[in-house]
Amino acid sequence: MLKTLLKIENLHASVEDKEIIKGLHLEIKEGEVHVIMGPNGAGKSTLANIIMGHPDYIVSEGHIYFEDEDITQEKTNERARKGLFLSFQAPEEIPGITMENFLKTARAAVTGQEVKAYAFHKEILAKMKELQMEESYASRHVNVGFSGGERKKSEIFQMLMLNPKLAILDETDSGLDVDAVKTVSSGINQFKNDQNAILIITHNTRILDQLHADFVHVLIDGKIVKTGNADLIEQITATGFASMESALGK
Ligand SMILES: Nc1ncnc2c1ncn2[C@@H]1O[C@H](COP(=O)(O)OP(=O)(O)OP(=O)(O)O)[C@@H](O)[C@H]1O
Ligand SMILES: [Mg+2]
Repeated sequence: MLKTLLKIENLHASVEDKEIIKGLHLEIKEGEVHVIMGPNGAGKSTLANIIMGHPDYIVSEGHIYFEDEDITQEKTNERARKGLFLSFQAPEEIPGITMENFLKTARAAVTGQEVKAYAFHKEILAKMKELQMEESYASRHVNVGFSGGERKKSEIFQMLMLNPKLAILDETDSGLDVDAVKTVSSGINQFKNDQNAILIITHNTRILDQLHADFVHVLIDGKIVKTGNADLIEQITATGFASMESALGK
C-alpha cells in the first residue's frame, strides 16, 4: 500500500488577521506528482509557506500531518529534517554565503550527519553538470547576481542535493527559457522515484510535458474546488478559472 506523506485536514490560516486558506484538504502519497493551479492571489504560495512552517502565517483550524505525525506547530527546520522542501516563487539572495557552504550546512542539518567536504564537492560538481550549470556557481554567494532563471535552476539544484521526501515547487518554471525548462524538468524527473512526491504550483504547464501529473487541483479563494487527472489542465487552459468560480456561485 502506498504510504501517505502529506495530509492536510480542514486547514484555515491567516496572515495579518486576514484569512487566506479557508478549509483546505489535501493528501499526497509517495510516488505521486500533484499540481496546484489557480488564479493570482488564490493562496497557492501561502499554502506552500504554511506547509513549510513560515512563522508569518497563523493556522487557526485544522491539521497538517507528515508521515502520520502532526507537524502543524512544528518549526521549519524540523519539517526540513523530516524531508520537506520548498522551492520559492521568489528565491532570496544570501550574501556572504557560497552555494557550496550553504548546501553543506543544509545537508548536515537535514541529515544530522557530518558532511565530508571532498566527496560533497564532487557530488556538487556532478549535479551541476546534470543541470548544465557552470561550476563557478558553487563558489558564488547564494543567488547574489543570479538571473531570474538561474535562481530557479539553483533551487532545483538544492532540491537534488537535499533529496527531500516531498518537494514543493512554487512556480519553478516561470521565467525559464525553453532549454532551461527542459533541463529543469529532466532534473525533476531524475529526482522522482516511488518513495518521494512532488507538489508543483504553476501557471503554465510546459514543465509537465516531461513529467506526468497524477492529480491536478484547482485552488480558488483558499480552497481546493476541483481535483482531477492531467486532463483537467486542458480544461483549465481552454476555459480558465472563471467557469469554476461561477460553479461555486461567486
Ligand atoms: N505576508 C503577507 N502579508 C500580507 N498579505 C499576504 C501575505 N502573504 C500572502 N498575502 C496575501 O494572501 C493572498 C494570497 O497570496 P499568495 O501569494 O498565496 O497567492 P498565489 O495564489 O500564490 O498567487 P500567484 O499566482 O500570484 O503567485 C494575497 O491576497 C496576498 O496579498
Ligand atoms: Mg504564488
